[in-house]
Amino acid sequence: MAAPVISIRELHTRFGAVWVHKGLDLDVAAGEMVALVGGSGSGKTTLLRQMIGLLTPTQGEIRLFGEPLFGGSVERECALRRRFGVLFQHGALFSAFSVFDNIAFPLRELKRFDEATIRDLVMLKLEMVELLPRHGQLTPSELSGGMVKRVALARALALEPELLLLDEPTAGLDPDRSDSFVRLIRMLGEELGLTLVLVTHDLDTMAALATRVAVLAEQRILAYDSIENVIRVDHPFVRNFFLSERGARALRNTHHR
Ligand SMILES: Nc1ncnc2c1ncn2[C@@H]1O[C@H](COP(=O)(O)OP(=O)(O)O)[C@@H](O)[C@H]1O
Ligand SMILES: [Mg+2]
Repeated sequence: MAAPVISIRELHTRFGAVWVHKGLDLDVAAGEMVALVGGSGSGKTTLLRQMIGLLTPTQGEIRLFGEPLFGGSVERECALRRRFGVLFQHGALFSAFSVFDNIAFPLRELKRFDEATIRDLVMLKLEMVELLPRHGQLTPSELSGGMVKRVALARALALEPELLLLDEPTAGLDPDRSDSFVRLIRMLGEELGLTLVLVTHDLDTMAALATRVAVLAEQRILAYDSIENVIRVDHPFVRNFFLSERGARALRNTHHR
């Protein structure tokens, strides 16, 4: 059997005197779309940053595609880095660069493509996220919130990753823009065969995308199952999160697969 795309064992994270994670385990199999949910400050963003090696755990092990994140050669680490893309919470575009140059950035960094090829690849990525070639000339300050997310997604997909991590992808978008961005993520996820990990507070986003839900509470993954099964877990966070009026409505719209 293939190694899980992400495998986390006995992860501990401490900031000063505060333990954010204590003995956290999580496996994400290829093709899963995992929604990571948990209260504010429960350590979701921290976990995402650790998954991609931006932050070293206090203790414990994280493997991507069966390989440890740290300790290999520089070449091996670079090769591993190309297999995932990240969409940070606020888009995190380079504000001095045009949309085109933002998307081209990871391609240029590779030093493998000439400018004509880069141009073709950027145009393809713009089309994938349903933007037009002329949008490439805009700067981030000229974009709407929804467009910033699409450009950030195009950049995250530039190197054709197998794994895509998204931190609150629909935060700050109005309901219509949020719905259309979720549809785009789902379509690209299915077409490109991506493994997805997304942090979200939004039940509609979770219901539309997630094949499994991981609940981060009490410093660990307290539950990891289908939405249907996770909502039956008897825990205050789960009750509050899923069984409110708003939660019940979102769950009626669950995308069954
Ligand atoms: N670099 C850091 N230094 C100190 N404390 C941090 C750091 N990053 C996060 N924290 C703390 O860790 C906890 C979890 O943060 P975070 O992962 O951002 O939570 P979430 O994304 O679930 O809201 C919070 O209490 C936060 O203040
Ligand atoms: Mg966060």
